[in-house]
Amino acid sequence: MSARQRIEVGGHAPYAITIGPGLLADREALAAPLRGRHVLLASDSHVAPLYADGVSDALLAARPGVRVDSFVLPAGEASKTLAGFGAAIDALAALGATRDACVYALGGGVVGDLAGFAAACWMRGIDCVQLPTSLLAMVDSSVGGKTAVDLPQGKNLVGAFHPPRAVLADTSTLRTLPDRELRAGLAEVAKYGAIVDAGFLDWLAAHASGLLEREDAALAEAIARSCAHKAAIVERDPFEHGERALLNFGHTFGHAIEAGQAFDGLNHGEAVAVGMVLAARLSARLGHATDADADRLQAVLERFGLPVALPRGLAPDALLARMRLDKKAQAGGLRFVLWSGIGRARVVADVPEAEVLAVLRAA
Ligand code: NAD
Ligand code: GLY
Repeated sequence: MSARQRIEVGGHAPYAITIGPGLLADREALAAPLRGRHVLLASDSHVAPLYADGVSDALLAARPGVRVDSFVLPAGEASKTLAGFGAAIDALAALGATRDACVYALGGGVVGDLAGFAAACWMRGIDCVQLPTSLLAMVDSSVGGKTAVDLPQGKNLVGAFHPPRAVLADTSTLRTLPDRELRAGLAEVAKYGAIVDAGFLDWLAAHASGLLEREDAALAEAIARSCAHKAAIVERDPFEHGERALLNFGHTFGHAIEAGQAFDGLNHGEAVAVGMVLAARLSARLGHATDADADRLQAVLERFGLPVALPRGLAPDALLARMRLDKKAQAGGLRFVLWSGIGRARVVADVPEAEVLAVLRAA
């Protein structure tokens, strides 16, 4: 993997994203954002045995007087609940965390979202350092400050905006990431091409083999280009009053699929892959784009080994009912991020439900 890259996220609460190999063993890089003497190191049952001791040892070596408690969630989306959040809050209480305490979120997007939300709420907000270990978390969830947990009624329905104090993406950790999770991350990488950068989608198509074979240079470039896109968007629109909504391309469908499968079917990246194809097809159906563009996006996602059709057992009517509860829906009707072609996404309000149902039935 190539040398470290640094991307600044400006705005009301600026921070840096550092990307590169070996960051979890870099004592100074890990300890630099720490202001106080209390650390809650949050992780999950897959990631903690691999990396938590190393992070804890490095922090203690850099700051001998610090207390580091660990908090480990069962791995998987099913843990991203109010109960999991409550357990994280209990861990902060047991730590005696003061206002200058810091939560280190070591893991994928599930840990990052839940631990970030705990940091947002403890004493009305303490520091959080994101240590993403999945590709998806490196390119998306660790950046931008969205934190949340799920309810049975839907994804991310309880949460807060709480920007991290720093993001340290140690690309060496991708070596232990399961293939399925690597592909899920590639769905969110492809999203940036789909919404704002048609040339990037072409680059991904050309480098698909290298990415799937985890070639260092290909992964480093995909992560840096994705983070640069995300950083630019969240800097301009941190609270999703406008442009940031484009990052939800495919997510209205995807979130309904995840909730419809009780967060135990397709994973987030896979559901987003299906959702992006459905959003592209809906765009074509409404006359905003062409089916040829949708075919092009679908081909890249298929090349990555991602699902592109609705899983069996999900009734279109039930999915539509879930979409009405999506955070992007407004009182007036369904809103979707659609596109006018690859790299040209926009928010479209009042999309007729009959058209959405037609796309779901065709999928
Ligand atoms: P995840 O956190 O469940 O991680 C996927 C799996 O990979 C888990 O089993 C995890 O234990 C394992 N894993 C992670 N890193 C590993 C490593 N280096 N080695 C071995 N195993 C590893 O899922 P995810 O795909 O990382 O994140 C999905 C979540 O992120 C969803 O809840 C989604 O809603 C959220 N998300 C949030 C944002 C945001 O802006 N906050 C953006 C996108 C997605
Ligand atoms: N992943 C969507 C966002 O950060 O806004």
